[in-house]
Amino acid sequence: MTDKKKIAIYPGSFDPLTNGHIDIIERALDIFDQVIVAILHNPSKTALFTMEERVEMIKQSFNGEKCVMVDAFGGLLVDYAKMKNATAIIRGMRAISDFENEFQMALMNRKLNKEVQSVFLMTGLRWIFTSSSIIKEAVQFGGDISDMVPEPVNLKLMEKFPQKTKSEE
Ligand code: PNS
Repeated sequence: MTDKKKIAIYPGSFDPLTNGHIDIIERALDIFDQVIVAILHNPSKTALFTMEERVEMIKQSFNGEKCVMVDAFGGLLVDYAKMKNATAIIRGMRAISDFENEFQMALMNRKLNKEVQSVFLMTGLRWIFTSSSIIKEAVQFGGDISDMVPEPVNLKLMEKFPQKTKSEE
């Protein structure tokens, strides 16, 4: 056993970051010394925000938090984890519906690199139905989601979809 700094990668599309993601990051910080929020490409999704916009929004949301780093990477998650000397990959688990995809991804990551462990954390009940996709869908049609995302993300969403929200009508 060494007293080496424990680093975890929290990977995802973060298109955009939600309060559910923040909840997971805060829980991860109870276990790890440093959490690297890494924006990676998910080939099955088309992004609304550019990588740069997503990095910027996350940085603004964690302004001054020294234990949270933000980065973007274009390749395999396990290669990135190795490059950063991370021992764990954090993923949030909301409901049973998340399980199958997460299970498959964790086993593939383990096959690709046995040294990195996948760690699943449960979101707080408040965020159990929150996802970036449902937020984008709601805001696109004028739904008020301002209490589901951090302020820098809310502002950026309002820029992208500048119509009135339902609560203002
Ligand atoms: O937030 P998401 O979209 O559920 O995150 C999925 C993500 C980006 C973590 C996943 O697609 C990923 O790890 N992409 C990088 C490529 C990779 O390593 N894929 C997993 C093994 S095939």
